[in-house]
Order: sequence, then structure tokens, then C-alpha cells
Amino acid sequence: MKQAAEDTLRRIEQSASRRYLPIIGREKGRLLGEIVAKHKPRRVLEVGTLVGYSTIQMGKTMGSDAEIVTIEVDRDEAEVARENIRASGIRPHVTVITGDALDIIPKLAGTFDLVFLDAAKHQYLAYLRLVEDRLGAGAVVVADNAGVSSRSMRDYLEYVRGSGRYSSEYIPVGWDGVEVSVKQ
Ligand SMILES: C[S@@+](CC[C@H](N)C(=O)[O-])C[C@H]1O[C@@H](n2cnc3c(N)ncnc32)[C@H](O)[C@@H]1O
Repeated sequence: MKQAAEDTLRRIEQSASRRYLPIIGREKGRLLGEIVAKHKPRRVLEVGTLVGYSTIQMGKTMGSDAEIVTIEVDRDEAEVARENIRASGIRPHVTVITGDALDIIPKLAGTFDLVFLDAAKHQYLAYLRLVEDRLGAGAVVVADNAGVSSRSMRDYLEYVRGSGRYSSEYIPVGWDGVEVSVKQ
């Protein structure tokens, strides 16, 4: 099963070298996997599935009692993601929802232990505010592109760093980085 996940990730990486496919890539994927392994979330919300690369990176370190809900606005990418996730054989139950996260998040039931934000950078704060009351103390929010897109997500970064609701740190990865914020 682990081999199937690795094979699927390699296949996606290869297609990313042929056409523009803004996946988080191997280095950030490893970091994301480490964050998931450390915090052991039972329920993950991902915003911005694309073809499922980051979903598989998170899911390969999670158990069969865990769940990932992931949202993708592009219907075709969401369908490819479903196929990739199926092929990867990862253990958690994964639901790929097609739609705009701004419409979908308010309709989701239940709480989340980890949120991975990787959709429209200027909407990160809106995504977070929509899910925030369903995050308990210790829940982790990982925001991609906090280096290269720091201007587009300035309101988000100011909020997680300055509101007192999170303990937040920037982790550089290559020429970019992720903001990791733990709910207080
Ligand atoms: C950078 S890609 C995600 C990459 C993916 N997380 C990975 O690393 O494999 C961003 C994705 O967010 C999607 N997206 C953008 N705005 C969105 C929104 N409002 N709701 C849901 N998905 C959105 C785009 O269609 C795109 O597929």
C-alpha cells in the first residue's frame, strides 16, 4: 500500500515536470507529512486539492480511522484527484468535494484537527474564519506559500501572528515556506 502511494506521488511529480501543476512538491510534502505525523489529526480539512498530491502526502502517514475532507473548485482536477487518491491506497477515508471553498466550508459538519490551506492566497483568512469555530485548542493550520505569496496573504499572516488566538511560526522550505499556526 505504501508503495502504491509512493508510485502515485512520483507519477504526479513526473506530470508536473511536463505541464504546469502547482503541487507542493517533495520537500514541502515531506514537511507536511512530518507535521501530520507529529500532531496525529483524526480529521483534516484541505482547501485546494488540485490532483490530490498533498492529500496523498498527508494521508500516507494517517490511519484508517482518520478522515480527510478536501475541496477543489475545478471539476476536472477534482476527478483526477479522486482517481489518484484511489490509486494511492492511502488508509484514511477521503472525500473530495467539488466547489468553491467559501460556499462549502460553512456547510461542513463536525470539527477538524488540522487544516491545510493551499487555494486562493488572498482568501486564506476567509477560509480560516469560516472554519475557526470548529477548531479546538491544539488544532493546527498549515498555510502554503507564506513566503512567495506573503503580500497576497498579509491579512492572514497578521491575523495568525497577532490575534493571540494562535501560536504561529514561519517554516522556510527552499525559496518559499509555510506558516504553521497552532490554535490556543
Ligand atoms: C496550488 S493548487 C493546490 C495544490 C495541492 N494542494 C497540492 O499541493 O497538491 C490550488 C488549487 O486550489 C484550487 N482553488 C482555488 N480557489 C479555490 C476555492 N475558492 N475553492 C476551492 N478550490 C480552489 C485551484 O483550482 C487549484 O487546484
